[in-house]
Amino acid sequence: MRLKDKVVIVTGAAQGIGKAYAVGVAREGAKVVVADVDDSGGAAVAEEITKAGGKAVFVHTDVSSKTDAEKMVKAAVDTFGRLDALVNNAAILDAEPVDQITEAAWDRQMAVNAKGTLFCSQAAVAVMKKQKYGKIVNISSIGAMAAQPGLCAYHSTKAVIFTITRSFALELIDSNIQVNAVVPGTTNTGMAERAMQDPAFKERVVGTIPIGRLGNPEELLGAVVYFASDDSSYCTGQTLIVDGGVLMAC
Ligand SMILES: NC(=O)c1ccc[n+]([C@@H]2O[C@H](COP(=O)([O-])OP(=O)(O)OC[C@H]3O[C@@H](n4cnc5c(N)ncnc54)[C@H](O)[C@@H]3O)[C@@H](O)[C@H]2O)c1
Repeated sequence: MRLKDKVVIVTGAAQGIGKAYAVGVAREGAKVVVADVDDSGGAAVAEEITKAGGKAVFVHTDVSSKTDAEKMVKAAVDTFGRLDALVNNAAILDAEPVDQITEAAWDRQMAVNAKGTLFCSQAAVAVMKKQKYGKIVNISSIGAMAAQPGLCAYHSTKAVIFTITRSFALELIDSNIQVNAVVPGTTNTGMAERAMQDPAFKERVVGTIPIGRLGNPEELLGAVVYFASDDSSYCTGQTLIVDGGVLMAC
């Protein structure tokens, strides 16, 4: 077990890829804080982990609220005694063409995806600095590195993740806190699955993937476990692309 007795927070863990991270890190021995705005989904994930013999607690958290981010970290420490790793996975997506992005949609996505990552990381760092130990795993997207139609605002928030990752990594070197990012490709769950209801659109997307299919959330888990575990003690400020080969092909 690569995360035995580590305390790990996963934000946006009530469904989709975040749920796979929460269940997966628990299988690796972690005590998990499931953080989400979705109370019933989040509680169900915590219960699933507990029923399987793991340790988990659900904490209602809106990551765009600094107060909620601080409460989430406090709950981790109050429940499990420390905080070893934070996985900043929560995000929202509104699709609009570039000339129709509204100020409200831009602000909403920035608030959850970018500011949420900042606030949760700041709250976690306050504890990790005292411990002289910590891991932050940020979740970006291939769209932060190559354009896709209709996703400018969402992908802009995901590009911010690279800057946050490198800045936190550099400034926290002396506190033994490593900060890295995972860059998922199109995955057959969550927001991508909802966008793939049209079989013709799905076929077009799959056609651009050299491996020839969408990814499974479990295929992202290894990258998250690596960055959340002691295995990555000499790795910081990096991004690992897990995308079926999309970005390496032209
Ligand atoms: N699905 C994909 O193909 C794909 C591709 C690249 C990157 N990603 C990234 O992976 C992550 C997970 O994506 P997904 O497809 O599982 O998404 P999803 O929409 O299925 O799940 C997102 C979760 O975040 C929660 N959430 C939303 N707003 C929140 C807030 N303010 N505070 C706390 N929780 C909140 C939701 O309730 C939900 O449980 C996201 O960061 C996304 O950008 C996904």
